[in-house]
Amino acid sequence: MQYIFGITMAQKKKKIIKKKSVKKKKLVKRSKASTDKSILDEIIRVDHAGEYGATRIYDGQIAIFGKNSKIGKTIQHMADQEQEHIEKFNELLIEKRVRPTALLPLWNVAGFALGAGTALMGEKAAMACTVAVEKVIGEHYSKQQDLLEDDEKELKKTIAKFEKDELEHHNIGLEHDAENAPGYKIMTKIIEIGCKTAISISKKI
Ligand SMILES: [Fe+2]
Ligand SMILES: [Fe+2]
Repeated sequence: MQYIFGITMAQKKKKIIKKKSVKKKKLVKRSKASTDKSILDEIIRVDHAGEYGATRIYDGQIAIFGKNSKIGKTIQHMADQEQEHIEKFNELLIEKRVRPTALLPLWNVAGFALGAGTALMGEKAAMACTVAVEKVIGEHYSKQQDLLEDDEKELKKTIAKFEKDELEHHNIGLEHDAENAPGYKIMTKIIEIGCKTAISISKKI
């Protein structure tokens, strides 16, 4: 009798342990954090806008320097990477059903004007523009990665890759004597403020 009682107790214990482990598994499943949809929308919208602006800045600079000049080729390398970035965000807009910013026509004109305007001031000024823009975009991408949860690992990886590219662009600017452009400090400050403003507007509108 005692033997049977012992077996029954052991079976009960086993069942309890099994139940607990199932509960634990469920908890682990539930605790996989998901990114807030409104945050995800803002991230994709603003990044798409930023990459679009970047392609237009480099278009403006290439329009002044020409594709075949030495500086034009360097800028073209960065423009090609921006093209990859915008294409990825074009796909993401569709995949994640995100509305693009309504201000694309403005960033179209403003980006080109900024690129062409700084190129007209000379190669160093064009590179100073790159330093300022890429600094802001790089920092922006760095912060964004903290906002993405486990369910957006792929996007996180994409943004980390793009952050690396933007840092490379920033360094290309510095290597091309950007800091010796006339009025470097004030010019980069103004461009940085402009980019940050464009970022806050493009998240919402
Ligand atoms: Fe980019
Ligand atoms: Fe860039």
